[in-house]
Amino acid sequence: MTEPNWTELRKQFPMLETWTYLDTARKAPLPLCVEQATRDFFRDVNENAGDEVWNPASVEKTRVVMARLLGAPSSSIAFVKNTTEGLNIASHALNLASGDNIVVTDMEHRANLWVWEHWRARGCEIRCVRNRDGRLPIEAFLEKIDEKTKVVATAWVTYRNGYRVDLKALGGICRQRGVSLVVDAVQGAGLLSDPLSELNADFISIGGHKHLLGLTGSGVLYSRPELVKNALPGITKTPEYFTADPATLERYDQHRFESGNPNFLGLLVFRRAAEFLESIGLQNIETRVRDLTDELLQMLKRRHIRTQTPSNWNERCQIVNILVDVDAKTLSAQLHQQRIAVNVRDGILRASLSFFNNEADLETLVRALP
Ligand SMILES: Cc1ncc(COP(=O)(O)O)c(C=O)c1O
Repeated sequence: MTEPNWTELRKQFPMLETWTYLDTARKAPLPLCVEQATRDFFRDVNENAGDEVWNPASVEKTRVVMARLLGAPSSSIAFVKNTTEGLNIASHALNLASGDNIVVTDMEHRANLWVWEHWRARGCEIRCVRNRDGRLPIEAFLEKIDEKTKVVATAWVTYRNGYRVDLKALGGICRQRGVSLVVDAVQGAGLLSDPLSELNADFISIGGHKHLLGLTGSGVLYSRPELVKNALPGITKTPEYFTADPATLERYDQHRFESGNPNFLGLLVFRRAAEFLESIGLQNIETRVRDLTDELLQMLKRRHIRTQTPSNWNERCQIVNILVDVDAKTLSAQLHQQRIAVNVRDGILRASLSFFNNEADLETLVRALP
């Protein structure tokens, strides 16, 4: 695949004309194709009574594109509202029972803790893998997994310092032991080129509003097809699925995770955004993000500013956290005044990059740091 023209691609994001935006780990700036999709949606509603956009066929088209982008069969892709909802659905598809234990980590976003609390109240034990200097090595998981472990739930890329868990290794170990691996991949998916179906995970949940460049309220839940059987069926309004005939409940496919009217607008946007990402290529995006984050880490080092983000690419992704000697919240607010968007997570400044960033963005940030 040829190297994309990054300067041209940047022009697809009007927000970048006035902002140094280093906060995609929170929300992505929306590209022009997304704005166009919303206009197309309204046009179809107004001119064609929504024939095209209020149509399950439109959702199925999105499924095919999204599956291709993320590297999974479309039959394993369900559309959900956000990461949290996907994790919650996964937790209800695992036949958890009193006495089982669930292994989480101390680097999870609260979304991947809340959903498991429900199971604590039903007699499951929640065990926590403690990070080691900001890392979650496989050995740390192994110390917590035993014969009563039913699930390991972890982020692919953690939201704090951006540590990237070795899912292939962890998933292999889980599979050997009959343990399910549930992954919060909202940080990572859309940037890393590993196909979802090769991550050795059972469920992978991804909110759409970060690296997939979608709207809030749209997300993806990947599932291994074998697991769909155990899930409670959703109640959909699509005639094909909404019927009193129990035989149709035997449709053990990913539609069981979807209920009611889908987010037609969000899913049209999702398709256009996925096509846009596909036209750039996840491999190119990953290389670009690796190079830019390398550059930022080097710049920080030159300024003797510390970070807890690992330098090895296999252990990180787009997030670089920055340890400053001043109050991070105050600093972040000051940067905001200068139209530099970063974030603060757990008291630490966090920059997150994407393919549309450039060296000038990094220089602007590093120059503005005390
Ligand atoms: C790692 C991680 N998981 C989950 C969430 C929450 O995602 P959602 O709002 O899609 O449920 C976030 C951030 O918002 C996050 O960074």
